[in-house]
Amino acid sequence: TSISCGVDINDNVKIKVDHLFCISRQGIIIDIIDPIGVDQQRYQEVLKEYREKGKCKELSGDQVILPGFIDLHIHAPQFAQLGTALDIPLYDWLNKYTFPLESKFSDENFARQVYQDLVSQLISNGTTTALYFATIHKSTSCLLAEICEKKGQRALVGKVVMDDVNQNPEYYRDSSTDQAINDTEEFIQKLLAIGSKSHQGIYPVITPRFIPSCTDEALSRLGQLAKKYNLYIQSHCSESDWEHQFVLDRFKISDTQALDSFGLLSNKSIMAHCGHLSDGDMDLFHKRGAAVSHCPLSNSFFGNAVTPIRKLIEKQVNIGLGTDISGGYSSSIYDNIKQSVISSRMLEDGTNKDLLPNVRGVPNSRITLSQAFYLATAGGGESLSLPIGRLEINYAFDCQIIDTTLNYLSQSSYFGKEESNYENLFQRIMYLSKPNNISEVWIQGKLVFNKK
Ligand code: GUN
Ligand code: FE
Repeated sequence: TSISCGVDINDNVKIKVDHLFCISRQGIIIDIIDPIGVDQQRYQEVLKEYREKGKCKELSGDQVILPGFIDLHIHAPQFAQLGTALDIPLYDWLNKYTFPLESKFSDENFARQVYQDLVSQLISNGTTTALYFATIHKSTSCLLAEICEKKGQRALVGKVVMDDVNQNPEYYRDSSTDQAINDTEEFIQKLLAIGSKSHQGIYPVITPRFIPSCTDEALSRLGQLAKKYNLYIQSHCSESDWEHQFVLDRFKISDTQALDSFGLLSNKSIMAHCGHLSDGDMDLFHKRGAAVSHCPLSNSFFGNAVTPIRKLIEKQVNIGLGTDISGGYSSSIYDNIKQSVISSRMLEDGTNKDLLPNVRGVPNSRITLSQAFYLATAGGGESLSLPIGRLEINYAFDCQIIDTTLNYLSQSSYFGKEESNYENLFQRIMYLSKPNNISEVWIQGKLVFNKK
């Protein structure tokens, strides 16, 4: 028995019981066959054929297949300081801890050690695709992409640009604007070469760290590069009181409008945080087809706001989830699924402001658990315009196999097999599973993690 879960944005988790998934050599789901109903006979025939060829993997009744998770915003170097220094505001945190740490990634051995540990942990946590910030260093940013390629993880990687001499410390910035752009272009070409040979997909990403760290010239030349090569773009947008205000003061327009004016808001843009967007900013995201990477754990520490995800969903903006390591303290998308629900509930509760004016929030803000799961899977795939994040025909076979016998995920020992329903099982997997519940991870049809 196996069940697989998908969901649509209207909140329906789709559960398929005992289905047969047929995977092509390229790692694409080419058929999904129901054991009952009109497909019954074909199911038996195909199953027999695959069994005879020895190319069939059969799961037990205690196993569940979920789509792999997509991390839409993560700083790979910051894995080395995960779980520390979360008690000061963004600006101080960057200057006191984060820039000194990232500057160490000029050292290839150090970078290799951190990046290998991180990518292994992400994969074993069920993250099958990640959109990474590396550092300003061209060569170790490339190394990150090579490590992902070797370990089989689908990765989108950016060499970070920070060229403004007035905003970045001397020990950690691009040596000039020209250097920043030239290094970026060389990096792009290297990654396009790695990507063209990879099975699962490796992609370069245009990565101005955020507007405060870049000159106008760098921002506009990065916009041009993105256009020239039709590239993904990532940055931070309207993250905190300080960052949002900094951009307003510099350009007299919002962060969203400023990014757009440099050609950095396209249908291949993924902007992190976005907690301080106006209605007009949200409409511009929708109009450009740009996506928001929602980082609910990180926002709790640095965002000075709860990103209004329900409103963004209603405005049909593409959204996925990000860990934002190490602004977020966890490398697990499960933890961010939970936090996205919790944060949205706290934004909403409650609506009667007359009763408790200091602790009451914004009506209609809550998202459901299945919407959060949607963001972690299909929403991420749509944000990247890649056929990933759903266990459906023509999508990549990226999945995690969950062992429901550990950590009491299954309720069947209390209520019996018939009584224990799949909807409950889905919810318990989301809220209760631990890393040791993930027994295998597959990316593009290849086994990349096996707990045994
Ligand atoms: N804004 C600019 N750089 C960063 C970073 O590394 N983390 C977070 N959370 N926000 C940023
Ligand atoms: Fe970030």
